[in-house]
Amino acid sequence: MPLELVIFVGLQAAGKSTYYRDHFAATHVHVSKDLMKHARSRDGRQEQEIARALAAGRSVVVDNTNPTPVVRAPLIALGRRHGARVVAYFFETTVKDAVARNRLREGNARVPDVAVYVTARKLVPPTFEEGFDEVRVIAPLPPIIAAT
Ligand SMILES: Nc1ncnc2c1ncn2[C@@H]1O[C@H](COP(=O)(O)OP(=O)(O)OP(=O)(O)O)[C@@H](O)[C@H]1O
Ligand SMILES: [Mg+2]
Repeated sequence: MPLELVIFVGLQAAGKSTYYRDHFAATHVHVSKDLMKHARSRDGRQEQEIARALAAGRSVVVDNTNPTPVVRAPLIALGRRHGARVVAYFFETTVKDAVARNRLREGNARVPDVAVYVTARKLVPPTFEEGFDEVRVIAPLPPIIAAT
């Protein structure tokens, strides 16, 4: 398998971490700022973890909302420097469904509703022009049917 840097893009509760577990856990190192609550510079720490894995010949998934080209650009550049294929996975979801799924989560996994709205306002879908070798769109999860 070619060395790969996969950059997830999507709202909170879009299903990113679940998708990682189902499709990438066996092959790709999981890098996520959610897993480094206590690091001083989470972006610096994240870049270190990505660089270390790629230098060791291991493919990586970056599992954050990664909502803007500005956030993604340094990650794409890092992947390039290590000769990795850089692929975006865009998790489509409506804001309404993301908020509903987020509300069903427990404990630390649940974020304030406003965090989802803030990300939705910033979110720019990934494009080839940013430098991705491939952009994949993951269809929305089935909506939650609320009991009435
Ligand atoms: N394929 C699926 N079918 C039904 N429910 C799902 C599916 N994938 C994920 N979920 C549910 O949706 C919720 C959000 O999923 P997940 O934690 O993977 O989102 P996330 O994008 O990683 O969110 P965050 O950015 O906050 O980490 C979870 O409660 C999960 O159980
Ligand atoms: Mg997650």
